[in-house]
Amino acid sequence: MSNNTVIQSSRQIPKTTKSLDKKALHNYVETIGIAKIHRHIFICADQTVANCCSKQASLESWEYLKKRLQEPKLGQPQNSHPICILRTKANCLRVSCSRPIMVAYPDGVWYRQANPEVIERISKNT
Ligand code: FES
Repeated sequence: MSNNTVIQSSRQIPKTTKSLDKKALHNYVETIGIAKIHRHIFICADQTVANCCSKQASLESWEYLKKRLQEPKLGQPQNSHPICILRTKANCLRVSCSRPIMVAYPDGVWYRQANPEVIERISKNT
């Protein structure tokens, strides 16, 4: 990935968003950088019913993706890298294949064998 494109957020939106007041919600949106999301990657991981690969394989891919996006230590949008990539476990993306399925938006590119090696190759070419 280029030096200015990899930021990710591992923070989870509190389950009690209904109780957040407007200022707290605004602060939270700022903190996780929602307005600066450049890409959003969904990966089939931790599936309820594992159709495309084993749950363990999907979690290995998820952990690798998470680690790969954390390596630059760019967990928050900053002036030096103002855009970010968000990642989400998608449970099932409804595509059965032999490896974890991953899709990146807004590009709309699907990866049918998103194992750690492929994720590494993709990240170097992004
Ligand atoms: S279980 Fe992976 S795409 Fe459905």
